[in-house]
Amino acid sequence: VVEGRHLVTSVTGSMQNEPRQVRKSNEFPEGFRFGTSSSAYQYEGAVNASGRGPCIWDSASHTPGVIHDNSTGDIATDHYHRYQEDIELMAHLGVGTYRFSIAWTRIFPDGRGPTPNAEGIAFYNRLIDTLLSTGIEPFVTVSHYDLPQTLQDEFGGWRSRHIVPLFTFFAETCFAAFGDRVKYWITINEIHNYAIKYTNIGCRNPSGLCAPGNSSTWVYTAGHHMLLSHAFAVEVYRTKFQTKQGGKIGIVADAQWYEPYSDNPWDIAAVDRMQAFQVRWVLDPIYYGRYPEMLVDRLGDRLPRFSEGEAQLLRGSVDFLGINHYTTHYAVDQTNSTEQLDSGAASVGSRGGVPIGPKAGSIWLNIVPFGIQKVLNYIRIQYNNPIVYITENGVDEDNDPGIPLDVALKDSFRTKYHVDYLSYVNAAIRDGCDVRGYFIWSLLDNFEWDDGLSKRFGLYYVDYDHNQTRYAKDSAKWFKEFLRPSLRPN
Ligand code: NOJ
Repeated sequence: VVEGRHLVTSVTGSMQNEPRQVRKSNEFPEGFRFGTSSSAYQYEGAVNASGRGPCIWDSASHTPGVIHDNSTGDIATDHYHRYQEDIELMAHLGVGTYRFSIAWTRIFPDGRGPTPNAEGIAFYNRLIDTLLSTGIEPFVTVSHYDLPQTLQDEFGGWRSRHIVPLFTFFAETCFAAFGDRVKYWITINEIHNYAIKYTNIGCRNPSGLCAPGNSSTWVYTAGHHMLLSHAFAVEVYRTKFQTKQGGKIGIVADAQWYEPYSDNPWDIAAVDRMQAFQVRWVLDPIYYGRYPEMLVDRLGDRLPRFSEGEAQLLRGSVDFLGINHYTTHYAVDQTNSTEQLDSGAASVGSRGGVPIGPKAGSIWLNIVPFGIQKVLNYIRIQYNNPIVYITENGVDEDNDPGIPLDVALKDSFRTKYHVDYLSYVNAAIRDGCDVRGYFIWSLLDNFEWDDGLSKRFGLYYVDYDHNQTRYAKDSAKWFKEFLRPSLRPN
């Protein structure tokens, strides 16, 4: 029996609906939310304003060789100073939701309480109040990759259990300060990606605190502490705030899709292993209070265990699920590889030289619209049809300083990407998936982590050389037209 075959077949079999090209937002269910997404380090800039302390990305981006184009997030899109203008852009487009994250080191410059930094709180109050007075609902991520540098230096950040009460206290401070107005909370962004790629970012201590990255034990330890941090924060929200404030809390998982590289049963099983090591690593604990058997079997002692009490806290610890989806890869069986990855599977972008889909700016981003319908159905089956928001979906182009502005604003590939992906989201809803919203990454071009400013994900072009001026790309015009209320019946 080949593990995984059954599930993959059943996922494929459960997708009954063909996509139909969507043209208008009213083709989605009543109350469906459209929005855009961002995160603090990628947008805010103003790294020394409001008494903000350093995070791991400040150190990383100031370490030569870490960021591919040697840029930093020191200014980024300068959203800290321009948030009003940006909210006007959102209002102009007609989006009803804005997802952003809170910079931990604006609230606690060294990562710890007890007293929050008043100026940091004041900034997010201004942001939230302006959104609400504009009629835009905030979806707030407590932590999006930007760990306080002090905590990384002191005990290795997410690698140590010390992080759990500190994160929980930071989250509690956010609920207390903003929860009267914020009704949608997300604890942590993309645990799988965060743990694998960024556990060591900003690690300046060459001793045992900076262990190697991928496939190491530390990745699973860091992920474990993120899961526990999530669970404790949700517990605090539910016991102290939720009844009074009436909000909802969830998590955001990165969930890409994999197609088998061939019809060979081993490649079909590889799809299942890829998903176990991506989506199920994070979501099985959250829905079922335990890690997938596949990980337990393959990782042995390298995978930490939850105590009974922790498992209980984790089980059912979300009111909704956010998924970030961008791309699809082929999954190839690698069980015989000498340098075996933990999952025993590898992801590749082409088969026999033929790419799985057109490439975007980022090398990992293949454009494969049907993948979003498949991953939504996969999640529906695995987790009993949870409420899902697509908290990120988007596509980038290279930042090419040589091209004239009017050419840079012509991004028909981005409009096509969103129309195609939305068409498959729409089909997934007809398949029965409970999808409640779709947020584009991103309103603005911004700081794309290791790729720095070299990739542009925005509906708006940001002119980094001239005072961060924003210019609408053609896709912004399409989105406005797509959302236009006058196109709704009644
Ligand atoms: C997911 C991350 O949450 C976001 O920070 C990043 O910019 C996008 N993917 C694009 O890579």
